[in-house]
Amino acid sequence: MSLLGRAAVAPRALSHRELVELLTWPDAEELFSAAYAVKCREIGRVVSFRGLVEFGNVCEKNCYYCGIRKGNGKVHRYRMEADEIVREAELAFKAGYGSLVLQSGELTGEANAVFVEDVLRRIHAFCGDEFGVTISLGEQPEETYRCWREAGAHRYLLRIETSNPALYAKLHPADHSWERRRDCLRALRRCGYQVGSGVMAGLPGQTTDDLASDIEFFESEDLDMIGMGPYIPHADTPLGKDAPWTPELRKKHLELGLRMIAATRLYLHDVNIAAATALQALDPEGREKGLLAGANVVMPNVTETRYRADYQLYAGKPCLDENATLCRGCLERRISAIGETILWNKRGDSLHWAKR
Ligand code: 5AD
Ligand code: SF4
Ligand code: FES
Repeated sequence: MSLLGRAAVAPRALSHRELVELLTWPDAEELFSAAYAVKCREIGRVVSFRGLVEFGNVCEKNCYYCGIRKGNGKVHRYRMEADEIVREAELAFKAGYGSLVLQSGELTGEANAVFVEDVLRRIHAFCGDEFGVTISLGEQPEETYRCWREAGAHRYLLRIETSNPALYAKLHPADHSWERRRDCLRALRRCGYQVGSGVMAGLPGQTTDDLASDIEFFESEDLDMIGMGPYIPHADTPLGKDAPWTPELRKKHLELGLRMIAATRLYLHDVNIAAATALQALDPEGREKGLLAGANVVMPNVTETRYRADYQLYAGKPCLDENATLCRGCLERRISAIGETILWNKRGDSLHWAKR
């Protein structure tokens, strides 16, 4: 049987070399359709929506690639009030999004922990457990993770960014620690979250071996959800300021992002995989392409339009002028056009997690 056929039949049974072979499969379309077939068989021809609220762009960290890093003085900083976050969550719930993602820059400290706890309790009081609440708020002490879990969060996203500690060290200042981040993923598991992580594809210095190891990392950490996207240089960052960015490179990063989705689906089978918005920054049909390469989750932005321009991690972020209603209609059309059905009013839990 061919490698694609074997990967589709038996989950989690490929060698490192075989993962590399998938990632460099000569016929990309063939790779994507094999992964899409696995997605349809395991999950169905359905897509889950998560309403995304980017509630603040103040960040204590200084990742060399990110547009809202602390050291970028050009960013106008904002932080939404608790009332406003809760209101947007309620709107997303009533609009039929089965779940929500609350994301912001990384802030530690007691005041922030209490603020988030209050927001989560209020959302939970209104929406209950039928509404999936995901948070993506960076590295925190385990007791903070536990407190937020008890306040109503079900899932947590924390990208490892790369599974290669040496590459991680080149992309971050010395006080950012790969090991601490990995340990956070384990703490999240202990606290009872559905745990999601992911990486960027196309980072400077990243090899195909690194990408294959990233997929092995998803397996060894037993992750429930994967969010990956192409790396896109941002001009106001140390990594992006002199980076070449040609149409050929855009195309290459887009394809790498799609190949990572496909190879991850072919290897892991039953996890939730998001078609990252960064794909759409590189191609107007990037997210549809992500779905057709094996992803099953899309995160429409429901953040109030006036904040969107200030939350730019990378160049070319889409939907800056649209509002939640426009994005909803737009995505609904795009998804029906590829023959997929949206799971309205469903949490869309990771199958891998449900089997646990
Ligand atoms: N290009 C693509 N993705 C980026 N992120 C941050 N900066 C960039 C960039 N320049 C991603 C990181 C982070 C997530 C919130 O956004 O993976 O975890
Ligand atoms: Fe902050 Fe996350 Fe950007 Fe790093 S990637 S600077 S932690 S928002
Ligand atoms: Fe925002 Fe298409 S998803 S306008």
